[in-house]
Amino acid sequence: MDKTRRLIIAGNWKSNKTNSEAVALVSELIRDLANVKELDIVVCPPFTALSDVSRLVLESNIRLGAQNLSDAGYGAFTGEIAPGMLRELSVRYVILGHSERRQFQKETDAQVARKAANAHSNNLIPIVCFGETLAEREAGITEQIVETQVRGSLAGLSVEQMEMTVLAYEPVWAIGTGKTASSAQAQEVHAFVRQVLTSLYGESVSRRVRIQYGGSVKGSNARELLGQPDIDGALVGGASLDSKNFVEIIKNSI
Ligand code: PGA
Repeated sequence: MDKTRRLIIAGNWKSNKTNSEAVALVSELIRDLANVKELDIVVCPPFTALSDVSRLVLESNIRLGAQNLSDAGYGAFTGEIAPGMLRELSVRYVILGHSERRQFQKETDAQVARKAANAHSNNLIPIVCFGETLAEREAGITEQIVETQVRGSLAGLSVEQMEMTVLAYEPVWAIGTGKTASSAQAQEVHAFVRQVLTSLYGESVSRRVRIQYGGSVKGSNARELLGQPDIDGALVGGASLDSKNFVEIIKNSI
């Protein structure tokens, strides 16, 4: 596929896979994806598996991501993970503001923005998620919701930080439901988000930022979605838990 932005496909394993299961899965991915050079591949296991997975992917073409990050550093923050802990494990990416965290942990745009700034200050690349619910789509306020989340979650990032940031449009109604946004629906929102980025950071920055689509991506729909002009990759949940499915998505996206 001919695109100036390099595609990035990330597997979000969510709260799945024990350490030994994660080791088994990533070993299969390393074997089956060894020859892929055309795009960036990222896996985001749970924290408990990062250490062993990190050792395994070190010499491979697979990069490591985490699923969350504290908005602070080391200290008395029970249950939190500080950036330095991830850096020592060669973690490069961190998913922030996933709709499940917004819903169940009540994460706000302001918190996501603080975490994104913390990530950048520590050489981690945030994958910042946003997306509307079904009710919001049906009420015709998708753009309003997406713009508010994008502006709020990126607040305070410098131009250099913005260029490095990866965005992920994930319509909540398409996550884990088997309902994918049509490629036209997804493209429409992606193009809109790029307009918002242009108004915030100017066109040359906006053109460089990678925007992933997420929500029931699988082998059979990846090519069509990622073939859209403003869709620069995928954030994959369910289909990233099985090596065959994840490999199929990647092979179909090249
Ligand atoms: P899904 O999840 O692929 O299972 O829909 C995507 C995500 O939540 O990142």
